[in-house]
Amino acid sequence: MRARYRFATLSRFLTRGQVLTTDDTTHLLEDAMRRSQQYLEKLRHRRVFPEEQDLDRLRKALSGPLPDGPTPPDEVLSLVDDTGSPATVASAGGRYFGFVTGGSLPVSLAANWLANAWDQNCFGNISSPAVAIFEDAVLDWLKQALHLPSASEGALVTGATMANFTCLAAARHHVLQRAGWDLERQGMFGAPPITVIAGEELHGSVLKVIGMLGLGRDRVVYVPADDQGRMRADKLPKIEGPAIVCIQAGNVNSGAFDPAEEIIEKAHKTGAWVHVDGAFGLWARSSARLAHLAAGFERADSWAADAHKWLNVPYDSGLALVRHPLALRAAMSVSGAYLLLNERRNAIDVTPESSRRARAVDIWAVLKCLGRRGLADMIERNVEQAKWLAAQLQDAGIEILNEVALNQIVVSFGSDHRTAQVIKAIQSSGKIWCGGTNWQARDAMRISVSSWATTNEDMQTARDTILEAHRNVA
Ligand SMILES: Cc1ncc(COP(=O)(O)O)c(C=O)c1O
Repeated sequence: MRARYRFATLSRFLTRGQVLTTDDTTHLLEDAMRRSQQYLEKLRHRRVFPEEQDLDRLRKALSGPLPDGPTPPDEVLSLVDDTGSPATVASAGGRYFGFVTGGSLPVSLAANWLANAWDQNCFGNISSPAVAIFEDAVLDWLKQALHLPSASEGALVTGATMANFTCLAAARHHVLQRAGWDLERQGMFGAPPITVIAGEELHGSVLKVIGMLGLGRDRVVYVPADDQGRMRADKLPKIEGPAIVCIQAGNVNSGAFDPAEEIIEKAHKTGAWVHVDGAFGLWARSSARLAHLAAGFERADSWAADAHKWLNVPYDSGLALVRHPLALRAAMSVSGAYLLLNERRNAIDVTPESSRRARAVDIWAVLKCLGRRGLADMIERNVEQAKWLAAQLQDAGIEILNEVALNQIVVSFGSDHRTAQVIKAIQSSGKIWCGGTNWQARDAMRISVSSWATTNEDMQTARDTILEAHRNVA
């Protein structure tokens, strides 16, 4: 009651530009903590995908004109929770198998909260020396975890799309510099043409980035892929002039890896840059048991990965690593408008962003908490779970379309029409959520096991739900 009164008073003060007292802030943050805790607790039992009525309720709650006056902060938070929480997708829980989506390990979520309280502007050492130190440490640990060259320069960005962008911007600079062209000064008009070579199973985000960088979506030279979506090294075209070869560590459907060693060797003989989109697959390198799947990728020139996928940190969090630091700096460094008065690494000089959040803190917390062994265990457990489920479905006569070596399962329930019906039944059950895809010209369901929160019991629920839908659809 007392707190309520304080906020009521406060809302009047807010109009005169006053700020929260310490007590008010404590009360508000404790309330946020309690609500978050209840939300996470409910995840174990609630529907995975919200119902239309929950979304309608949220829409109604948010509609209407911008309020003229203030609303007490506790009331604002209550509205966000009461109407927002039931409308969310329970992807932070263990029964979400859509896209390739990790959850948030508790230590990472907690560190993320704290870092949000810090509210640092993390563009550089000059704006937040503390987060710059976290970032240096994290990049070092990530290179160790993924067994990638220690001298590489890195950038923490929003996700794999921006990591691909960052890496390919460095690649574009590097191959043109070798051809005597200063891309950042002279621009793309009149520059020597760059050939971009990619497997025909290239992820859409890389194609998007190719367009963003002026490399031309329609100019990509595609290399045929095999039945698992792996680029065929024997079909690599003759490479001449400035060229970038894009390979994959983890096909978004099958989880398969391109034959890196052979492709990189051939490409490097011609001076081409090899870029790896390893959004989730690159994490296989952190496990001694799975590393063979992603062997040879360390010889590439740049790597993109997602921390918000298999490292299980909160959104948004991606990683770009580039073997040639000067190429990355040339592509990303700011002009003299920002004079940074020291020699230390400044994120603004190696990322596309300027002002940015402290992603390094969430990542550091996970790496410190799990250590090498814990990280490998988390990845291996999901792979074991995926293999178990694939075997269970196969035993029940369901067709699995990929070799399940990682965390991805591609499933057909017969004709495209029937597959769509079964997916619909599974999604509307609310017990689990899996998405649809198209694989080798067939509509299919994709199951991605990528979350720390997924228990073996959740896997049994997944099996039972899928089998039930398969049985019930005509
Ligand atoms: C192979 C691959 N590359 C890139 C991306 C894009 O990642 P993000 O959504 O984090 O930008 C994804 C996302 O699923 C992916 O699986």
